[in-house]
Amino acid sequence: MKIGIIGSGNAGQTLGEALVKRGHVVKLGTRSPQKLDAWLNQVSDVRASVGSFDEAAAHGDIVFNATSGAGSLKALKAAGSHNLQGKILIDISLPLDFSNGILNLFVANTDSLGEQIQRAFPHVKVVKTMNTVSAALMVNPLSLAEGQHDLFISGNDVDARNEVIGYLKDWFGWESILDLGDLSSARSTEMLFSLLVRVHMTVGHSHFNFKVVR
Ligand SMILES: NC(=O)c1ccc[n+]([C@@H]2O[C@H](COP(=O)([O-])OP(=O)(O)OC[C@H]3O[C@@H](n4cnc5c(N)ncnc54)[C@H](OP(=O)(O)O)[C@@H]3O)[C@@H](O)[C@H]2O)c1
Repeated sequence: MKIGIIGSGNAGQTLGEALVKRGHVVKLGTRSPQKLDAWLNQVSDVRASVGSFDEAAAHGDIVFNATSGAGSLKALKAAGSHNLQGKILIDISLPLDFSNGILNLFVANTDSLGEQIQRAFPHVKVVKTMNTVSAALMVNPLSLAEGQHDLFISGNDVDARNEVIGYLKDWFGWESILDLGDLSSARSTEMLFSLLVRVHMTVGHSHFNFKVVR
């Protein structure tokens, strides 16, 4: 499958490498393609390439938003709504606000970044997921507790949610994915970030996840 990843940070690079290793043809989108030379060398596979945000969006049958939350709307506008139209956009972003020296969310409670993106791109099927785990865990859930922990998924289009659930199982080996329903449920997974930070500070690393015991 042709996959476009808008975003070239740790998450974008980690997802990109894992997807190339699964046999997909991946283009990473960035404003500075030259800074991805090391990533291209590391992946060392003709199925990996780098381009602008709009080139990555045009390339993908499926597209990821792996940009910083504060830059997501700007990056997706640069990617071009015509390149995203009708496609599934797997949105892993978090609305982090680093101003004032304190880590806050710039949208919460009554709205979410996932919903802001959906409103800005009404013809895109936004599916929010993987925003509650580290990049390393996104692509390798079996590295923790034999995969017995949960991922959440939100989105207004039930078929798109089901399609992405299939991809997450197939691409990365996720076994338990809790479908939270429409995109308003992204408010809760984005707001989980404040708990993730405190757990991270307490256990001293990011290799952990939640399990919903029923
Ligand atoms: N890293 C993780 O473990 C993790 C886990 C869960 C969720 N997330 C979320 O996933 C997203 C990506 O995280 P990350 O750690 O890989 O990288 P990041 O540092 O949060 O974001 C880097 C990407 O954002 C783009 N960007 C930043 N400011 C921009 C602006 N003003 N306009 C347009 N683009 C802008 C950068 O573009 P250039 O390429 O041009 O520099 C780069 O591609 C974030 O929303 C993060 O909260 C990350």
